[in-house]
Amino acid sequence: MMAKDAAKTRLAPKPDHVPQALVYDFDMYFDPGLVADMPARVLDLARNAPPIFWSPHDGGYWMICRHDAVARAAREWEVFSSDHIAHSAQMQAMGGAKIDMSNVVQPVPIMLDPPDHSKFRAPLNAAFSPKTMLALKDRIRSLCANLIDKAKPNGACEFMSEIAEPIPVQVFLEIFGLPLERQAEFRRIAKEHLSQSFGGLEDSQRKLREIVDVMQDTLVDRMAHPRDDVISLLAQAQVDGRPLTMHDLQNYCVLLFIAGLDTVVNGMGHGVRHLAAHPGLQDELRANPRLITEAAEELLRRHTFLAVIRTVAKDTIFEGVTMKRGETVKLGYPAADLDAEEFPNPDRFDLNRDNKAHFAFGAGPHRCLGSHLARIELQTLYEEMLARLPTFRLASGKPVTYRCGPVIGPRELHLVWDT
Ligand code: HEM
Repeated sequence: MMAKDAAKTRLAPKPDHVPQALVYDFDMYFDPGLVADMPARVLDLARNAPPIFWSPHDGGYWMICRHDAVARAAREWEVFSSDHIAHSAQMQAMGGAKIDMSNVVQPVPIMLDPPDHSKFRAPLNAAFSPKTMLALKDRIRSLCANLIDKAKPNGACEFMSEIAEPIPVQVFLEIFGLPLERQAEFRRIAKEHLSQSFGGLEDSQRKLREIVDVMQDTLVDRMAHPRDDVISLLAQAQVDGRPLTMHDLQNYCVLLFIAGLDTVVNGMGHGVRHLAAHPGLQDELRANPRLITEAAEELLRRHTFLAVIRTVAKDTIFEGVTMKRGETVKLGYPAADLDAEEFPNPDRFDLNRDNKAHFAFGAGPHRCLGSHLARIELQTLYEEMLARLPTFRLASGKPVTYRCGPVIGPRELHLVWDT
């Protein structure tokens, strides 16, 4: 049976090369099971969906859920390309439409394939190194502490808006040297950005332009007057022996905006929801805070919340499945991290697993550049929540529902504790 909300998605007819047995009803944006209970629905996908399936939703796409197949696809960039805009432009050009690529906002390096990808990734490595990120830890701790202390006397909070959202947004504004007084505007755009399905190149360009516009004054200023922040560092960087243009700088900043804000907020939501639902785990971590680093990793594995998108660059037979050039493929990291072949009893939170190598930060050439920063933000938040609040629980009568898409996170998370 098709999802009830099918009217909101673009349903595609099944192509002839897709066997009926591989068609599976899963809408990444509106799947009712995912919206109502993401941890249960992703487990259901891992257990019961075909390991590689074709969904008619959102224009039609393949989804790979099996762990070893996802690992393979993530590395085979010649077949599973990230250069969606070039492929989309080629397809449109074949239909007669012309696109001026010099004016297209293209988040880099995430939408590039090697060898260009490595050239554009290089300048970001220093900016996001473990050492640079560790220097932010005290600042992040004081941000977490202030927000938690503010909520504490109330005995309750809506965690996503009161605590999770402000932290990464403020960290981002500070390290990028963007104006703090525009926090609300940045939070709104970050929140809206990944909440809707992209309706093709034109629609995605409109959304990306909105992000460029909100940063443009600062980009112009830092090109002319560099300071001690990430935008200035990038403005002075070179790619392939040439200085960066304003267009390059916009492409970098758009990606960092999308990648840095929404992801961490959602990661915090999944982790804190799990802790709130498991008071015994809170007791264990309060008694032994040194376990929090490991716990943050196991929370990421159990609730991996990001599925990444690739375009099939050439006709291929992948793991016995025929895929055609131009088709969309989603690497189902959330389901792959619940593959029982790789992680026995995958739904169990288990600090003693032999295998701790999860896909939350991806795999292959595009593996997350911000993982050091994300880990510091997540670990510090859990440390401060556990140290400053008594046992916190999920508020009764306010079930958690999920905002879905390539990045999945709780819409609201109501917590209560004794005062
Ligand atoms: C819990 C938080 C985060 C999660 C779960 C996450 C996850 C991911 C994943 C799965 C990818 C791979 C994308 C792909 O293969 O197409 C990725 C890439 C990336 N992430 Fe993160 N991310 C997080 C936080 C951050 C932060 C805080 C930043 C920096 C501000 C960041 C910057 C990036 C960048 C620049 C890339 C692209 C790397 C490339 O293309 O080479 N991420 N992230």
